[in-house]
Amino acid sequence: MKEMNMDFSEATELLYQGDDIHGCSLKPEGLPIWLTSAFTMGDLEDVSNTYDTKGFTYIRTRNPNRTSLAEAVSFLEQGKETLIFSSGMGAITTTYFALLQPGDHLMANINIYGETYDAIVTLVTKMGVEIEFADFRNLEAVEAAMKPNTRMIYTEVVSNPTDILADIEELAKIAHAGNALLMVDNTFTTPIAVKPMTLGADIVINSLTKFMNGHSDALAGSITVNDHGLFETIHTIRMLTGTSAEPFASWQVFRGIKTIDLRVKKQMKNAALLAEALDKCPAVLKVNHPSVETNSQAVLAEKLFTGKELSTGMLSFEMPADRQKINAFMNRLNLAHYAPTLGGVRTTLSYPLLSSHHHVDEENLKKMGISIGLMRISAGIEEPEDLIKDFLQALEVFQ
Ligand SMILES: Cc1ncc(COP(=O)(O)O)c(C=O)c1O
Repeated sequence: MKEMNMDFSEATELLYQGDDIHGCSLKPEGLPIWLTSAFTMGDLEDVSNTYDTKGFTYIRTRNPNRTSLAEAVSFLEQGKETLIFSSGMGAITTTYFALLQPGDHLMANINIYGETYDAIVTLVTKMGVEIEFADFRNLEAVEAAMKPNTRMIYTEVVSNPTDILADIEELAKIAHAGNALLMVDNTFTTPIAVKPMTLGADIVINSLTKFMNGHSDALAGSITVNDHGLFETIHTIRMLTGTSAEPFASWQVFRGIKTIDLRVKKQMKNAALLAEALDKCPAVLKVNHPSVETNSQAVLAEKLFTGKELSTGMLSFEMPADRQKINAFMNRLNLAHYAPTLGGVRTTLSYPLLSSHHHVDEENLKKMGISIGLMRISAGIEEPEDLIKDFLQALEVFQ
């Protein structure tokens, strides 16, 4: 990044991250896409120098579009180094492969994204790692479940799909007291609302597919760390597993991330306003969002977030368990529509029981609070009055 002789706000400085085009004398205003599988080298002196200085060699190892995006993510997360992956799941599983060994103990929050849960149950166990799920709302239980071989504690800041919060600062203390690493998924919150590294997290993962890109047109993920040893270990395993992001997806996310401050603040505000309106609607049994008055984690919400309108653009709510009426509600909506993703500029719905959490067994679904009536909403950037009036008219089917 260009040297600045003054301090500016985060949203301003973000626009200048990652725009150093390595080895290129031209200065295009928009970053080009380096669609090349390799970079050519001269003689053997040049070859060994390029490898020694970790220059650009082969696409799976390094690519300038990933480097630019990594700089922008590190800047936002206030972490030292970032690796860009082919997806959020690629980032999560590659990090498990890189850092966990047979005989280690992994303790994960029970309230997490269904496919992360599946990855722990199906993949991590195959590695000979002992796994354990706990409800991280009970920090004493987490502390009591720590073992001498606990290598990692894993959580989302705000859980998918029930918006259950995790106290990152306290979890970091518990992890570090036991010489374990705290790995945190910031996908629902984004670094605009929370920077887990500043609260003590060792590893932060983002599904860049979501709010970070913001346009529902690319798949990518990231891992941010402060420790160079962790970076090198994860980098090697990413290279060996081939989970690096393609240049085009990296370029798309780099373009999307420039406007994150504008987009996500409106999405978070829309989610809070919609949550408030749904909470007052008689057809709605429960609303899950950190801003609602009935939230049992209000104290933690105040500690984690700078305000009620800056927490997450994600909410979920429970309707009566009547599939026909839920279908009628969905068909009656004009704006929000079903799409199994989140973080885009249009408001979308998803039904965890049939999508993200369909592999989870009944007992754990109950523990996670995922019921027949639960619908997840990803708030877009529509005008909030439009969204609210549309949801309220559609919910009239329950009268
Ligand atoms: C909280 C969370 N983490 C990780 C992922 C995985 O991301 P990706 O779909 O980019 O692999 C998702 C996907 O929905 C998610 O919601």
